[in-house]
This record gives sequence, structure tokens and C-alpha cells, in this order.
Amino acid sequence: MKPVEISKGIYNVGVIDWNIRDFHGYSTERGSTYNAYLIIDEKVVLIDTVKKEFADQLLANIAEIVDPGKIDLVISNHTEMDHSGGLRRVLHYIGGSKPVYCSKMGHKNLVQHFGQDLNYQPVENGQALDIGSRTLSFLETRMLHWPDSMFTYSQTDRILFSSDAFGQHYAGHEMFDDVVGDAIMPHAKKYFANILLLYAPKVLKLVEQITEMGLEIKVICPDHGIIWRKDPGKIINAYVEWSRQEGANKAVVVYDTMWKSTQLMAEAIADGLAETGIAAKPIHIRSSDRSEIMTEVLDAKAVVVGSPTLNNGLFPTVSDVLTYMKGLRPKNKIGAAFGSYGWSGEAVKLINAELEAMKFDMIDGGLKVQYVPAKEDLSACRDYGRRIAQAIIGK
Ligand code: FEO
Repeated sequence: MKPVEISKGIYNVGVIDWNIRDFHGYSTERGSTYNAYLIIDEKVVLIDTVKKEFADQLLANIAEIVDPGKIDLVISNHTEMDHSGGLRRVLHYIGGSKPVYCSKMGHKNLVQHFGQDLNYQPVENGQALDIGSRTLSFLETRMLHWPDSMFTYSQTDRILFSSDAFGQHYAGHEMFDDVVGDAIMPHAKKYFANILLLYAPKVLKLVEQITEMGLEIKVICPDHGIIWRKDPGKIINAYVEWSRQEGANKAVVVYDTMWKSTQLMAEAIADGLAETGIAAKPIHIRSSDRSEIMTEVLDAKAVVVGSPTLNNGLFPTVSDVLTYMKGLRPKNKIGAAFGSYGWSGEAVKLINAELEAMKFDMIDGGLKVQYVPAKEDLSACRDYGRRIAQAIIGK
């Protein structure tokens, strides 16, 4: 990727990872980017680096603008290795004693990642840094999404360098919201559902804080995907909506199946929901990905989970999805469980326990069918779907 000028003297010098398809368990079918930003002022500043294996590419991109040795300081907005992995290589190249500005928590993390010998400059929340014609300021954003996370803001340019927030895993030469258009929103939604949902209350507080501070934001530069220069308000508003978790009149029916009996139940439940006017999507877990499932869960009012009973327990893929979902703490959902079984039939009870632990409002004790669902069983499934639909409508 060639460097792209975002505003006078500010460039994205990051890299495109065209081939990544699994980002620590999140399916990245469009690849990703690791954005890093170069500011040319009296001081030359690099904001964030990239994954270790892309460090030389980052240095080559910087060299298209300025001799990397002229970089005066590095800002580490976030220490996760997709943004800090290249730090030591970059510092080795530009001069190992150059200062690295980071949050206090970032300092702790960087020491644990890279050792004590770097010139760390931990900053306070709100601290300003004069770099010539610009003053940069730092905004701590703890747990959005790591303890060290912070934003850097350039008042002069009204640009917010937002670390992981407002990002998307989207590889492409088209680098701005006005170029990609609405096609970027499903990627932004998936990113929120899988990276930030857990911290939704903090997102709401942060947006409130930014509004109270009267921070004018003309451009948002995240560390992944496209840059929001046409309408940064669009992604901020979307974050507020997703964080509120009010949900749409929609149900997700997520299941796995051994001999298609649980699948028949899933499809009949979805039919019952659809008959009552509720959008319902049966998702076979092994035909999907847990991160896709979470994206659907984000704006669904009901999550209906089905599993056969295997060895007195849940089907393993169902356990995987429930564990993952529980970690991301979706709120304000209706829950329901179903499944086919042969002789012991524990799965429905186990699903109920997991969904109750997530504080979902459960629709009775769930629906069990022994072996292959008969016509009347499928009729009961449709009826169950209709009852879930009524609960959604009443919510
Ligand atoms: Fe893109 Fe939290 O790293």
C-alpha cells in the first residue's frame, strides 16, 4: 500500500494484510489493515506501528514521505501486537533511544512485551504534546478495548486517532468512507460485535465525554480499515445505537445438528417466528463462524439456541458459541433453547443454564424432541417460534 495523505502533512503509512482470514478467532474474510499514521511537523511523529512481520513494509512506506531516521517520537495508542509488534524493529531503524509516548497502562504492557530498555514516556489523560504547528493531546480510553488503550487528538486538524475503536477488518486500496460507502457498515458492525460489545457501557460514556469536551471531530483515523472523513458522525452514531442494545424485531436461531433432527426443529421454529412477522435466521454453526453469529446476535431481540445431546452434554460447537457469546456480554435479550436427543437429553437444560447466566429472559424451559421430530413435534416447534415472536413483539 502506498502512503495516503489524509490532511496536510498527515499520512496513513500502514499496511494491508490481504491474506489474514482468522484474527484470533474472528473470521476476516476481507483481510485487514494495520494503519499507522505519520505526522510531519517540526517534530516528525509516528502513531502506532504494525504487526512484526510487516515492520519493514511500514518503514518502506514511511521512507516514501521522509527518511525514517527523522522520526522524533513514536506514540503507542495501543499495545496489542498488531499495532506494537513492529515497535522494536522500527526503533532499531530510527534510533533506539527515540521516545515512545504511551498511557501508564501502556507503559506497563510495553515493558512486559519489549523489556525496560526503551525510552518510554507515559502520559496522563488529557496531557498535551507540542510538535510544532500542532498540539497533540492524549485521551485515555481504558478497556476500549484493552487497559492501555488511548486516543490521540490533533486539535489543529480536528483528527482523532482512535486506535481500535471505529475500525473494521477490511483490506482494500479504497481507504475512506466516501469511497467505500455503506458497504463498510457490515464490517464495522461485525468489528463492534466481536471486539467492543463487551465494553458497550464504556463506549456510551466515552461518547458522552467527547460531547461534553466539545471535541470537534472532522476525521476519525482508526487502526484498522477505512478512515472516516466524510461522515465521522455516522460511525459514532452507529456505536451509540449498537451499545444501547435495544435490538430489532429479529431472532437468531443458532444450532448444530447430528442427524438433522435439531436442524428440522430450528427451521420449524424459524418458520413460526416468520409467520408472526419476525425476521428469523436459522444459522447452522458449522456453516458459519462464531464471529458472524455474534454479528447477528448484536441487533437481535431473541437468541434461540439448539443442540443435540452428545455424551450427556452439549454438542461441542454449541459450547464454543455459548462460551464466546457469554464473554461478549450481550444484554437485553430473550433466550430460548431446543434440541433433539436419543435417551438422556441434557442439552436443553444446559443451554438454558448458559443463557440464564447471560441474564436473558427465558421462554419457559425449552423444547425437547426424542430422536426424529414427528409432524406434531414440528408443529410444536412452529408454535414455540410463534411464542418467541410474541415475546419479541411485547418487548
Ligand atoms: Fe487491533 Fe486491539 O488490536
